[in-house]
Amino acid sequence: MSNKVKIAVLVSGGGSNLQSIIDQQESGFLDKAELVLVISSREDAYALKRAEAHGIPGVCFSAKQWPDPQLRCQAMVDALKKAGAELIILAGYMSILTPEFIKAYEHHIINIHPSLIPKYCGKGFYGKKVHEAVLSGGETVSGATVHFVDEGVDTGKIILQEQVEVKPEDTPETLAARVLEVEHRLLPEVIRRYCDGELRENEE
Ligand code: GRF
Repeated sequence: MSNKVKIAVLVSGGGSNLQSIIDQQESGFLDKAELVLVISSREDAYALKRAEAHGIPGVCFSAKQWPDPQLRCQAMVDALKKAGAELIILAGYMSILTPEFIKAYEHHIINIHPSLIPKYCGKGFYGKKVHEAVLSGGETVSGATVHFVDEGVDTGKIILQEQVEVKPEDTPETLAARVLEVEHRLLPEVIRRYCDGELRENEE
């Protein structure tokens, strides 16, 4: 019986954050973690191909297949419980999660956001829009934030943040790439700390 922490990752897009978790698991940095399931909100998410390439079960719960968010989230919880997932990672997941879903995994859902929360987060701040807003806000620094997920949007307890420089010549794409490099280090670091028992939000 593996005593590893069973982790599920929720995705919607390219899955580079998922890939960084897979890579760190295979390198041994995340040897106490076991990826048991990848759930995508989109059939065409390249993240599903990354999961398949590494033998991780992947499944899609799209709004098309499951128009009712309540039923969709309940079906996702059922699949997560069946896989024995203990920790849920949101890595570019772009669909809503109902209060019931959050409750089912309260204090065990972690998200990564490509800005220094509480700046440039919340409703409407996702993907490229975040970096466009940082640039038009004239910021000289940006960064990534890993936080626990509560029922708000990007409002849960912050776990770890790291800054990056915003350069005058930056475009949203060049800034996104610099932030993504930080994300790919930060998320595995937080998962490792969780697996080492250092992060139990509800025990503080
Ligand atoms: C990342 O920038 C992440 O911070 C944001 O969505 C993007 C996901 O990228 N939530 P990927 O799918 O992990 O490559």
